[in-house]
Amino acid sequence: MRLFALMLLAASPAFAQQATDAVAPERGLKAVPETAVFGGLPKAARAALGAKADGTPVRAQDWMIAVANPLAAEAGAKVLRAGGSAADAMIAAQAVLGLVEPQSSGLGGGAFLVWYDAASGGLTTLDGRETAPLDATPRLFQDEAGEPLAFFDAVVGGRSVGTPGTPALMQAAHDRWGKADWAGLFDPAIRLATDGFKVSPRLAALVADDSARLQRFDDTAAYFHPGGVPLAAGDTLANAAYARTLRTIAQGGAQAFYTGDIAADIVATVRGAGDAPGVLSQADLALYKVIERPAVCAPYRAHEVCGMGPPSSGALSVGQILGMLDSYDLAALGPDSPEAWRLIGDASRLAFADRGRYMADSDFVPMPTEGLVAPDYLAARAELLAGDDALPEVAPGDPAWDHAQLWADDDSIEFPSTSHISIVDAAGNALSMTTTIENGFGSRLMTHGFLLNNELTDFSFRSHADGVPIANRVEPGKRPRSSMAPTIVMRDGAPVMVVGSPGGSRIIGYVAQAVIAHLDWGMDAQQAVAMPHLVNRFGTFDLEQDTQAVALDGALRKMGFQTSVRALNSGLHAIVLGEGLLGGADPRREGIALGD
Ligand code: DON
Repeated sequence: MRLFALMLLAASPAFAQQATDAVAPERGLKAVPETAVFGGLPKAARAALGAKADGTPVRAQDWMIAVANPLAAEAGAKVLRAGGSAADAMIAAQAVLGLVEPQSSGLGGGAFLVWYDAASGGLTTLDGRETAPLDATPRLFQDEAGEPLAFFDAVVGGRSVGTPGTPALMQAAHDRWGKADWAGLFDPAIRLATDGFKVSPRLAALVADDSARLQRFDDTAAYFHPGGVPLAAGDTLANAAYARTLRTIAQGGAQAFYTGDIAADIVATVRGAGDAPGVLSQADLALYKVIERPAVCAPYRAHEVCGMGPPSSGALSVGQILGMLDSYDLAALGPDSPEAWRLIGDASRLAFADRGRYMADSDFVPMPTEGLVAPDYLAARAELLAGDDALPEVAPGDPAWDHAQLWADDDSIEFPSTSHISIVDAAGNALSMTTTIENGFGSRLMTHGFLLNNELTDFSFRSHADGVPIANRVEPGKRPRSSMAPTIVMRDGAPVMVVGSPGGSRIIGYVAQAVIAHLDWGMDAQQAVAMPHLVNRFGTFDLEQDTQAVALDGALRKMGFQTSVRALNSGLHAIVLGEGLLGGADPRREGIALGD
């Protein structure tokens, strides 16, 4: 059966059921249907859940928000309805996400934001990435023999906690683009935290799945396993400590997070984390800065695909993949063609080879940022795709740069959580923000009602390979390389698509695929986020289980690819701008698009 045909099948009850069940955990735990938990929602939100289940986009004229939880969408929509800006709506939605989706993002984490400014026609980005503590050394994730720690030994506890960036990013966005009163933006989250909200199926399933690690630290255990019993879907959960924290930030600004009691308790929690203490200090918190950086854009077809440059590898890698594919007619090949996926898969492998070699925090290591997306460089890399079979070997290229350093390939590991917010406001501003505490439930440390990130495990655990330094090694004050790819696609100076996803380093493939699905294959916002995933980073082609992606298995193997059929938990949220606004929410997550 054709892949595109599968998208049309989304309207059938069978596919709707599959979409709802996709929020069930990977390991077979039983989930309560979304509709049972989100049943008390206003009419528009219920309609939006229905549209997602039917595989149709949500339509609006003036404004739209697409985000991973209906309560967060409601909070943002309320702000937009009242004339607030996209930045205001993001703050309201993020405050709710930190409560209802605590495993994915929150005050203890970091985020990247891409902003299109309707008044000036300009694009810019805010880097709210966590930083490594000033006391961190390149051996942070190595044992006494200099060997890398096992992944979860590094994640759980204080060692992995970087200085959070999300509160400062919320403040920086409001300082630049806010219209609404800062304090009022926290009201919906404070109310939900005080009165309680219903635990969603996804949260309950993830709590059950992570039960042992969530019980390592008392405050975390008490919240997620009250009375020793894991939270269940439909339970009413209040978080008085989080409400107090939000009130403090509402009254004192983000500054109140980075100094005073909250900062002192973050440091005490990190440094007192049992047998896995970290080295974060109050100086790290007091010194934290959001950095405004130019957007990184790459041409594709008649468009510019723009996003977050270093320390994220997102925009560069998505831009490289699309740049290499620009000379191939994917529209003619179509989404059912193994040849289209050969091209996409091998372009992605080539991009990942460059990512592993060259990409890191460019404030700390020299990076060929422009060379990596230069048209002549990508044209030369694209020639490697001219054959009929999978590339037998893939190596980093030799992009132009003005000051050189020999790097070894990295070996960092990334695992699931994270959330993406797409917003267009009534003034025409567009916001694309990917927000995370890294692993599901981050470091598993909790204070003042929020979880602390484990973002530092996005660094390479090894600092050198065969004596050659690795660009993404740990250094004090440095930001770990990310794959987050909040994206705004531009045409003739105006935004046409706002999109992004969670998914660790698979984010790059999910976002590139959604852009191709819309621009080359004519899919609308909902089809583009729902279509089955095929992702290739390092050689193995991941094919999304229980979807028509599996139908391509034989043909891809014949071309020489190794394949792996598996769950591919993206969380794409997209808004397509044209005649009006079309919103899409990933059926693999609990979110919706809301607009008017
Ligand atoms: O910054 C990054 O690339 C990762 N920390 C994001 C983690 C993530 O997306 C997990 N997703 N499912």
